[in-house]
Amino acid sequence: MDDVKTLVRSVKSISSLPTVFIKVGELIEDPESSAVQVGQVIENDPALTSKLLQLANSAFYGFRGRIETVTRAVSIIGFKQLKDLVLAISVRSTFGEFEDNSMLTMKKFWEHCIASGIACRVLSVYQGNRACESAFVAGFLHDLGRLLLLERYPEKCLRIYEIAREEGRAPEEIEREVFGFTHADVGSELVRTWNLPASLAAAIAFHHCPSQANEHAKLASIVHVADVIVHSCEMGTSGNFRVPALDKEAWKATGLKSSALNPAVLKLHEQFEETTAFFLN
Ligand SMILES: [Fe+2]
Ligand SMILES: [Fe+2]
Repeated sequence: MDDVKTLVRSVKSISSLPTVFIKVGELIEDPESSAVQVGQVIENDPALTSKLLQLANSAFYGFRGRIETVTRAVSIIGFKQLKDLVLAISVRSTFGEFEDNSMLTMKKFWEHCIASGIACRVLSVYQGNRACESAFVAGFLHDLGRLLLLERYPEKCLRIYEIAREEGRAPEEIEREVFGFTHADVGSELVRTWNLPASLAAAIAFHHCPSQANEHAKLASIVHVADVIVHSCEMGTSGNFRVPALDKEAWKATGLKSSALNPAVLKLHEQFEETTAFFLN
């Protein structure tokens, strides 16, 4: 049986991200670069350009048909946030080829990812954050390790989902028994391979046990709470067929008031359909 690092390296098609993401990332880190330069790099990739403009004009941002150029999108959305969106779009296109199986359709799986991303972003707004796209990305990617496990060990994974369903157990518990690690460990290793921030790797690694995420507990807690909300709203399917128990410490760590919950769920529903159509088409 592979260890986590070997498993991640063995799935060659996803071990690197598209060069456009890397180029955009480098430009954004460079304090000298301008919105026009970032716009030019993105415009060299027509598929990415049309996706970004579509997203900037969707319910996700609410600019409704007013953003016509990538440069304008860059200046309105902001450099760092744009990098996170390009990451989400790149990951979705990199993982677009995965096939359905008898327990999990990819449409349902991505719906779970997208809804979790939106829920994280909305909760992050209620926390008073402005750069909420990093929360979106953490939610969007939190279960990505499942796809790698499915690709490498399809039969074992289906058996794990079956046992989880029959015995009412959390699949990650069974994953640990079978593989010695969970989909959360795999996803976290994957984003580390891509040189993405440690906060993101920690939020993914600890989304089932956020209080163990130490200095990244706040982001891990947001992902955990978003995951619970999305499961209770039955938006998509993750391979976990029961609503995970809410970790009370995690809820406290988010610093959110319980009065924020209902409006957050409403916003999640408002943005879900259009954002899903965006990522799935
Ligand atoms: Fe998970
Ligand atoms: Fe999940």
